[in-house]
Amino acid sequence: MTGNKLAIIVLAAGQGTRMRSRLPKVLHPIGGRPLVGHVLTTATRLGADHIEVVVRHERDQVVAALTEDYPDAVFVDQDDVPGTGRAVQVAIDRLPEDFDGDVLVLSGDVPLLEVDTLRALVDGHRAVSAAATLLTAHLDDPRGYGRVIRDSDGTVQRIVEQKDATDDEAAVTEINAGVYVFRAGELRTQLARVTQDNAQGEMYLTTVIELLRAADRPVAAEVAADTASTFGINDRIQLAEAGRVLNDRIVRHWQREGVTVIDPATTWIDDDASLAPDVTVLPNTHILRATTIAEGAIIGPDTTLVGCEVGEDAIVRRTDASFAVIGAEATVGPFSFLRPGTVLGARGKIGAYVETKNAEIGEGSKVPHLSYVGDATIGRGVNLGASTITANYDDVNKHRTVVEDEVHTGSHTTLVAPVRLGAGAKTGAGAVVRKDVPAGSLAMSVAPQRNIEGWVEKNRAGTGAADAAARSRVAE
Ligand code: UD1
Ligand code: CA
Repeated sequence: MTGNKLAIIVLAAGQGTRMRSRLPKVLHPIGGRPLVGHVLTTATRLGADHIEVVVRHERDQVVAALTEDYPDAVFVDQDDVPGTGRAVQVAIDRLPEDFDGDVLVLSGDVPLLEVDTLRALVDGHRAVSAAATLLTAHLDDPRGYGRVIRDSDGTVQRIVEQKDATDDEAAVTEINAGVYVFRAGELRTQLARVTQDNAQGEMYLTTVIELLRAADRPVAAEVAADTASTFGINDRIQLAEAGRVLNDRIVRHWQREGVTVIDPATTWIDDDASLAPDVTVLPNTHILRATTIAEGAIIGPDTTLVGCEVGEDAIVRRTDASFAVIGAEATVGPFSFLRPGTVLGARGKIGAYVETKNAEIGEGSKVPHLSYVGDATIGRGVNLGASTITANYDDVNKHRTVVEDEVHTGSHTTLVAPVRLGAGAKTGAGAVVRKDVPAGSLAMSVAPQRNIEGWVEKNRAGTGAADAAARSRVAE
């Protein structure tokens, strides 16, 4: 794009009544990002001299959700005059007085537009020196959108909202995508003349189009080739549809990059996740937030990874993991629960029915079955026997367990933190370890077993157990 300055105004002040939600509509996420976040990501990629976001409904919540990720955006508060026209007006008033470039208006609830479409829209607008250029699309089901009414020669005459449309107008299938470029001066002039005289009592931005035409100013339109990219989200049905379209795009992107996705329909990948070539994703797998997966790893089936880092050739199946690091060639699952702060070393193993949290597990160490490992540092080459548990919480504080290299614990060991097991130490089955174990020692805490002969026949006469015991004694 060359020439004029560009300001981008993102409309995000509406409540989104049709969502029926406590959360403002524009903050509902798809692909791990709020709707308006997608719009701002695209706006940032396009680049502009000014990016303004108009807020009103739950403005603090909307601002808080966006400031960190979009530091260039300026937030502008809409007053109590309702409507998209008023929203744009307050934003324009915040631009430098001498700003006479182009204004690109985007809707916070139209999240799927791609940067190329916007660039073409702005370029086309400049090429024909239009006063306004709008993006339209032909939809099979245009319900809910404003309809584009054209003259007999095909030029755009005006936009009519669904609620103001006659039957004939409502039958038009070309819709207004809610995305426009205006020349700043022309927009200022016409907005000053927009009234609230319509079915919704709002200042419609769309009225500017007919005012420009009435003033004999040139209005152009681009028809979007990819209709899905113009989807506007007003309710939860459309939210799910847009989420699906976005996910299809993301999955296809990674497939082109060399990732095998067995079942795209049940694979969900967030916008900011990243997968290396030769990763295989099995069905029903969710790869969320900024998860990164290295070459050759196999993920799934039935796995959710949130903000995780997975090393080369690791295998992670039927697992729920958040903010965990899984080393190269490590194996995790099935039925493992990795909570934040889990760091599993290369070639390590977290097996069936194991929960971990805040636990560093060294290279080649194994936690194969039925364990809880929390607030622990586990060295290399360690084997925690089945059902080894860290008792890390004394009802008041959390304490750390340290297990040095090459330790093997017996089944059902309880490690009562704070406690340290020295290098190469072992524990007997069922040990409750309350004191540090020196390197190379065997820790036993279970009392020697005592068998009281004849107890069952004496105390449980007439039961199946007593009868069986009696029979086995006779057989001897
Ligand atoms: C709007 C258009 C419609 C178009 C559709 C495309 C108008 C009058 N209508 O209708 O022609 O087909 O988008 O998706 O513009 N907003 C504000 N302040 C307000 C009202 C809305 O900032 O006072 C924001 C909303 O947060 C939303 C966007 O503007 O992000 C669109 O508002 P919405 O109420 O969804 O408009 P639609 O009825 O969908
Ligand atoms: Ca809308």
